[in-house]
Amino acid sequence: MNKLDLTGKSVLITGGTGSLGKALTRRIFSEWPEVGRLVIFSRDEQKQFQMAQQYPSGKYPAIRFFIGDVRDRERLVRAMRGIDYVIHAAAMKHVHLAEYNPSECIKTNVGGAENVIHACLETQVSRVVALSTDKACAPINLYGATKLTSDKLFIAANNIRGKNPIRFSVVRYGNVMGSNGSVIPFFLKKRADGFLPITDPRMTRFNISLDGGVDMVFHALANAWGGEIFIPKIPSYRITDVAEAIGPEMEHPIVGIRPGEKIHEEMITASDSFNTYDMGKYYVILPTSSVWNLEEFKQEFGAKLVPAGFSYNSGSNTEWVSVEELRQLIRDHIDPTFSHA
Ligand SMILES: NC(=O)c1ccc[n+]([C@@H]2O[C@H](COP(=O)([O-])OP(=O)(O)OC[C@H]3O[C@@H](n4cnc5c(N)ncnc54)[C@H](OP(=O)(O)O)[C@@H]3O)[C@@H](O)[C@H]2O)c1
Repeated sequence: MNKLDLTGKSVLITGGTGSLGKALTRRIFSEWPEVGRLVIFSRDEQKQFQMAQQYPSGKYPAIRFFIGDVRDRERLVRAMRGIDYVIHAAAMKHVHLAEYNPSECIKTNVGGAENVIHACLETQVSRVVALSTDKACAPINLYGATKLTSDKLFIAANNIRGKNPIRFSVVRYGNVMGSNGSVIPFFLKKRADGFLPITDPRMTRFNISLDGGVDMVFHALANAWGGEIFIPKIPSYRITDVAEAIGPEMEHPIVGIRPGEKIHEEMITASDSFNTYDMGKYYVILPTSSVWNLEEFKQEFGAKLVPAGFSYNSGSNTEWVSVEELRQLIRDHIDPTFSHA
């Protein structure tokens, strides 16, 4: 197992001003203060301006803010010059907005993925990790379908690298606690209205902290051989428990499932089980055609094939976050002053 060392390395994060991008930035500066260069690539100057206040160049000389759109291939090639590691986090990620604006979602999530791959292959980038989501697994909405397409593009990119030693891999996980647009901040705000709407009382979701997501990305950067989908083992919560944790005394009206939503999310389907390995703390789905030797991989990581038909589903998960644990997680990760009373 390799340990990541970004000292002296140049890193680019697409979507660097987003929830994950900011968490990655915080962790990179705290773990490798001597990082060579850290490029934040995104579109909105206002978000970059705000982030730049947090990371003044006097104190953080390695940081660079690069305005750009992942739809713009030329701009990406320019941004990637001299970069060693790329983390591709830029995406349109709101399910209902993707349903309503399908072409826009395809342009960013699929076209953007193709452009990132092209730019990495055109330059000297050596490692690329793309962010995926549980919604990409057996997708029923366009967001998930575009992320699955993106995953496929990144996996297949390993087949067209030629003699270039670059490695592309994917990290897939579920709801990031407290990230932009996620259910916990939504419920925390909604308390002001005196009720917390439940789409479906049976609904469950995987739960991961931003730091948990960052850990998996760092692990993939250090250890990917190319073409893996890394999936951390994480607990689930019931949406009714989130409402109970945040507003136990409030009404929780059932408002009905939204377009493109599932009752339970999945990260590994039974059909994926034939290529899925248990790696201890995480699973990995291996590419069907890889450019390296499977036996060597299994030996190196102690990888064990999961039983045929295995699936990893938020509804049948064996690990759950309780109401009390949810409250503590909210205090630890979102609002230290949180109280449900
Ligand atoms: N949050 C979750 O629960 C979750 C769960 C699983 C997977 N993921 C995946 O993790 C990744 C990061 O999610 P997040 O929660 O950090 O998202 P986020 O907070 O919404 O941030 C998205 C970032 O992407 C940038 N962006 C969007 N469109 C872009 C474009 N066309 N060109 C360049 N930059 C663009 C945004 O900045 P501008 O708008 O300024 O461009 C922002 O910096 C995504 O790929 C998402 O699919 C998230």
